[in-house]
Amino acid sequence: MLDAIPVIAIDGPSASGKGTVAQFVAERLGFHYLDSGALYRIVAWATHKKNIDWSNATAVAECAKTLVIRFSNNQVFLNNQDVTADIRTEKMGKGASEVAVHAPLRAALHDLQHSFHKFPGLVADGRDMGTVVFPNAQLKIFLTASAEVRAKRRYDQLVGKNESANYEKILLDLQERDARDKSRTSAPLIMADDAILLEADNLTIPQEIDLILKKYQGKMCK
Ligand code: CDP
Repeated sequence: MLDAIPVIAIDGPSASGKGTVAQFVAERLGFHYLDSGALYRIVAWATHKKNIDWSNATAVAECAKTLVIRFSNNQVFLNNQDVTADIRTEKMGKGASEVAVHAPLRAALHDLQHSFHKFPGLVADGRDMGTVVFPNAQLKIFLTASAEVRAKRRYDQLVGKNESANYEKILLDLQERDARDKSRTSAPLIMADDAILLEADNLTIPQEIDLILKKYQGKMCK
C-alpha cells in the first residue's frame, strides 16, 4: 500500500545543492519533503549540548531516541525550541557526519524518516535515501559536482549570510566530510544501482529542477 505513494530520492555529497533542488521539486509536485541531513545535524547539536562525545555510538543513539523533532515552514524544532540556525553551522555539519557513522543511530532514525512517507508523495534528500531508507523509490537521483564547485557554492552561501568564510578551509572540510561519508561501513554515500547521475557542475539550479521533474514525469507516464 505504502509502495503506491511515490518517493523521489535525491542523494549526493555535501553542498551539491540537493536541499534546494529537493525542496523546489517537492513544492512543484505538492509533495512532502524530508531533509534527512537535518536529523543528523539535530543529533549532533543535542548531543553536543549534553556533553555526549560524538564518537560514543550507544550514547548518541540513546539520546536521539529521546528527541522530539518537528519541521514547520522551513523551520526545525527540537522539543519545541527553534534550532534552525543552530544546526546549520559548519561545526554541526562536521558533527553530523561524525555521528552519522554509527549504525545504532541510523537505525534509531529509521522510523522517523519513514513517517514522512505520506500521500500524495515524498521528496527525500540525503546520502542513503535511495540505497537504504527508501530502496523502492520511484525515482532516484544522485546529484553531484566537483569538490571545487561545491566549495565555491558553500563559500557564496556563507558570504551571502554575512558570515566569515575561507574558501581553502571550506574545500578541505568538504573533502574530509566526503571521505568520511563514503568510507563508513553503515549506509555509506554511494550511488544506488538504479539511480540517475546528475553532474551539476554546468547546470543551474532551475535546470536541475526541470531535469528531475522531466525524469519523474517520464517514469510516471510509462
Ligand atoms: O548540508 P550538507 O549537504 O553539507 O549536509 P547535510 O545534508 O545537512 O548532512 C550533514 C551530514 O549528515 C552529512 O555530511 C552526512 O554525514 C550525514 N547524513 C547522512 O549520513 N545520511 C543522510 N541521509 C543525510 C545526512
